[in-house]
Amino acid sequence: MHAFDDSYGFARRLARAAQERLAGVAVRRFPDGETLVRVAQTDRDAILVRSLADPDCKLFETILAANALREAGARRVTLVVPYLPYMRQDKVFHPGEPISQRVIGDLLSTSFDAVLTMEPHLHRVHSLREVFRCRAVNISAAPAIAGWIRRNARRAIVVGPDEESARWVKSIARAAGIDHAVGSKERFGDRRVRVHFEPIRARHAVIVDDIASSGATLAAAARALRAHGVVRVDALVVHAIFATGALATVHRAGVHRVLSCDTIPHPTNAIWCAPLFADRLRKPS
Ligand code: R5P
Repeated sequence: MHAFDDSYGFARRLARAAQERLAGVAVRRFPDGETLVRVAQTDRDAILVRSLADPDCKLFETILAANALREAGARRVTLVVPYLPYMRQDKVFHPGEPISQRVIGDLLSTSFDAVLTMEPHLHRVHSLREVFRCRAVNISAAPAIAGWIRRNARRAIVVGPDEESARWVKSIARAAGIDHAVGSKERFGDRRVRVHFEPIRARHAVIVDDIASSGATLAAAARALRAHGVVRVDALVVHAIFATGALATVHRAGVHRVLSCDTIPHPTNAIWCAPLFADRLRKPS
């Protein structure tokens, strides 16, 4: 198993759970801005670990590393990409735009034999099979999130900020053995969001969402819940992008505790998902 420095923590947990040896991918930048990557010896079945938040430069390095592994003798290269970017641009929203989701799918399919990721943002496109030409596996974070809620917030209600999240939120609530509610969301811009809930009778709510980027969705949901009289609001996300200032926005809106899965390294990481990837790696393809 190989990993880039920025994903080494997750890769170490994964290597331990999967009982694999782990080596780094060295990256060197030339004066002209080009990049050279170097990998250590590899097995015939290679696994490359890299989370792709802040993706543009990382994507090319990742593709170079896939080629380096094949040149070093790998016959099959699997990408473990805990956070898969560009999934939200799944259609041409305005004339002249690309379908970025399709571009990333094509790009990674030419370099990798398989891609394993967690909770990619699939909205209009429902399956990774429609995005990738290689084998692509979507690992659910729901069991890990439900486990955390069962252990830490047994009396809370699980809340989804929008209809898109309804099925996912329901499955988490069922596995945690508690109630759930789902809001309706309107977005007016990158950082302007309104969330509406029907009246909620609960003192403690845990908002769950797949991604926190500007933090606007979590903040709007928290304000709406507090307006309904919810005393304590916590937030739990899978992918902690948290752009500059986002975490402060969320706390200012009255969120007590913000937690995330470890798909992107972030100070809010509290839910460890590498074992779920290890389970999947053990299954025959
Ligand atoms: C969108 O539908 C997603 O599920 C998230 O709610 C959204 O991407 C969060 O973005 P932000 O933090 O910028 O509101």
